[in-house]
Amino acid sequence: MSAKWTIITGASSGIGRALAFEFAGGGFNVVLIARNKTALAEVAAECSRRSGVETEIVSTDLSDTNALDDFISALSSESRRYEVLVNNAGFGIHGDFASTDIDQNIQLVNVQVASALKLTRAVLPAMIARHSGHILNVASVYSFSPVPFQSVYAACKAFLLSFSSALENELKETGVRVTVFCPGVTQTEFRSRAGIGEKRTSSGMTAEAAARIAYLETLRGKHIVVPGFVNRLFVFLAQLLPDSTVAGLVRFINRQRGQR
Ligand SMILES: NC(=O)c1ccc[n+]([C@@H]2O[C@H](COP(=O)([O-])OP(=O)(O)OC[C@H]3O[C@@H](n4cnc5c(N)ncnc54)[C@H](OP(=O)(O)O)[C@@H]3O)[C@@H](O)[C@H]2O)c1
Repeated sequence: MSAKWTIITGASSGIGRALAFEFAGGGFNVVLIARNKTALAEVAAECSRRSGVETEIVSTDLSDTNALDDFISALSSESRRYEVLVNNAGFGIHGDFASTDIDQNIQLVNVQVASALKLTRAVLPAMIARHSGHILNVASVYSFSPVPFQSVYAACKAFLLSFSSALENELKETGVRVTVFCPGVTQTEFRSRAGIGEKRTSSGMTAEAAARIAYLETLRGKHIVVPGFVNRLFVFLAQLLPDSTVAGLVRFINRQRGQR
C-alpha cells in the first residue's frame, strides 16, 4: 500500500506526457490515459526506463462518458494508493459557435469537464480517508476570460477553475489539496489539432517547462498556478476589467496572432 500512484489523463502527448515523466521522476507509479495506445505505451516505457516505476496504460476515448466506468469500478477493489490525479486531457475547437459541430462541442465538455468530475469523485474518498492527496486540474489562462471563437473551450476551463476553488475550500483540513494549473500558449500539438492559426509557431513555453512548474507547485499544495509573467499579467487584467472588455481584448490579441 506504500507505493504512490498518479493518474494522468491526456498522457500521450504535450503537457500530459511531460507530466508523466515528472511524476515518474519523483518516484510515482503512473496510470496513463488517452486514446493513442501506441503513444501511451511509448510514454510508459520511457517512464519505466528513466525512473524504474510501474506503469499502466488505459487507452480510451474520454468523450464517451461511460468510457471510464470499468476503470473507476476497479479502483475501489484495488489496494493501490492513488496519491495524485491529473485531469489534463483536452482539445480545442476554433470557430464561431453557430457554425461549429454541436456533437464535437459536447465531446469537448465530456473530455474536459465530465471525465474530470468522474475521476475526481472516484479518487477523493480514499484520499480524504488517508488525509493525503492532490488533484491537479489543467485549465488555462482562458479560465479567466470569455474567448470569442473558442467559447466552449474557454467556458470548460472557467468551469474547472470555479470547481477547483470550491473543492479546495470544501477539502480544507482533509489533507487533500487541489491545484488548478493555468498555462498560456504552450508548444504542443494542441493548437494545430484545433486548427488555430499562429503567425509564430515557436511562441510560448515548452511542454516540459510547463509540466515542471505544474508538478512542483502541485506537490507544494499551491492552489492557482499561472506560469510566466505575460500570462500572469493577462490574468491580472482579465480579473480587473469587465468581461465584455476582456472578450474584446482577447479577440483583438488573437487576431494579431493570426487567428480569427
Ligand atoms: N498547448 C496550449 O497552448 C495550452 C494552453 C492552455 C491550456 N492547455 C491545456 O493543456 C492540456 C493538455 O494539452 P496539450 O497542450 O498538451 O495538447 P496535446 O498535445 O494535444 O495533448 C492533449 C492530450 O489530451 C488527450 N485527449 C484529447 N482528446 C481526448 C479524448 N477524446 N479522449 C482521451 N484523451 C484525449 C490527447 O490524447 P489522444 O489524442 O491520444 O487521445 C493528448 O494526450 C489541455 O487540457 C489543454 O486545454 C494547453
